[in-house]
Amino acid sequence: MQSFLLTEMENKLNELKADHLQQIKRAQTLQELDDIFLKLFGKNGQITLVPKDFPSLPKEELKTIAPLFNQVKNNLEQAIKEQRSAVREKSYQKLNEEALDIQPVALQQRSGFIHPVIKIENEIIELFEKLGFFRFEAPQIDSDQYNFELLNIPAGHPARDLWDTLYIDSQKYGINPGQLLLRTHTSNAQVRVMEKVKPPFRAMIIDRCFRYENIDPRHEHTLEQFEVVLVEKGLSMANLQYLSEYFLKNIFGQDIKVRMRPKYYPFVEPGVGVDGECIFCYGKGCKICGEGWLELAGAGMIHPKVLKNGGINPQEFSGIAWGFGPERMAMLKYGLADIRIFNSGNLTELEKIK
Ligand code: PHE
Repeated sequence: MQSFLLTEMENKLNELKADHLQQIKRAQTLQELDDIFLKLFGKNGQITLVPKDFPSLPKEELKTIAPLFNQVKNNLEQAIKEQRSAVREKSYQKLNEEALDIQPVALQQRSGFIHPVIKIENEIIELFEKLGFFRFEAPQIDSDQYNFELLNIPAGHPARDLWDTLYIDSQKYGINPGQLLLRTHTSNAQVRVMEKVKPPFRAMIIDRCFRYENIDPRHEHTLEQFEVVLVEKGLSMANLQYLSEYFLKNIFGQDIKVRMRPKYYPFVEPGVGVDGECIFCYGKGCKICGEGWLELAGAGMIHPKVLKNGGINPQEFSGIAWGFGPERMAMLKYGLADIRIFNSGNLTELEKIK
């Protein structure tokens, strides 16, 4: 007859095994398996505590209980180990399936497109290359000299207020304060191109400019400008009107009417604002244009002083300068109300107008 204690221990071990093998098989996460492991094999775990009663058993009964104990212990350990691998395998598989699900969508969203402003600029470049214009570049960080002074805008002149300027803290580079700035317009290229290229020439500048602006739907601190600098013999306002029409008709369609209005810029004489007939109301007058016309560009005959500053004899040559904002064009062309979209990096919005 075996002892009561042995029977009790045998039953307990068999129960522990049956119960926990089931729990282990059902476990879905590593956390659940860790909990079961602790419950069984932790410091006060149910398996850990079993041998505590061994000394109370007769010696020969020890020979019966020890192998059973080892077998149950091994079975449970093995089952936990196997279930751990199964759970890991399952989660890898799930990740794999998710990755497969996501991939086509991600690829679709990542297809690149040309920024709408760059697209319009490329069109403009092509248009003016056809008329023999070459591209010219001037620095974005430039001196007061090229941005203002040589353009007939002396220091302290009220015309400086036309451009809200961002100055660079230049003293630490040994340059007097106020002498180094972020160019406010591409007109800083006018005298530079005259210095580099012998007239006659047809240059165009498309590049970034900066203003100290409070940004709102119509104003940006970082903006693009397109400028034409044309120096030849015998140019007149008629050439300017022709260029404006050539340009606007090609961008907005042959029906658009173009007009010039007198406007003051210190580096041109006469100076004009170039307006296009509103493409929304066709000149009737609406919320966007007011009176039926949209101001699109500033232009004029290059001032004799500016030609002289560029080393060109104003008696011999005359010049046309003409500049406008490609963002403004893009807003009109794509019917956008807010200029800030362009620099926003908001692909969802930009993609709508690509
Ligand atoms: N540079 C002027 C501006 O930024 C535009 C302009 C260019 C006007 C060329 C006349 C001639 O406002």
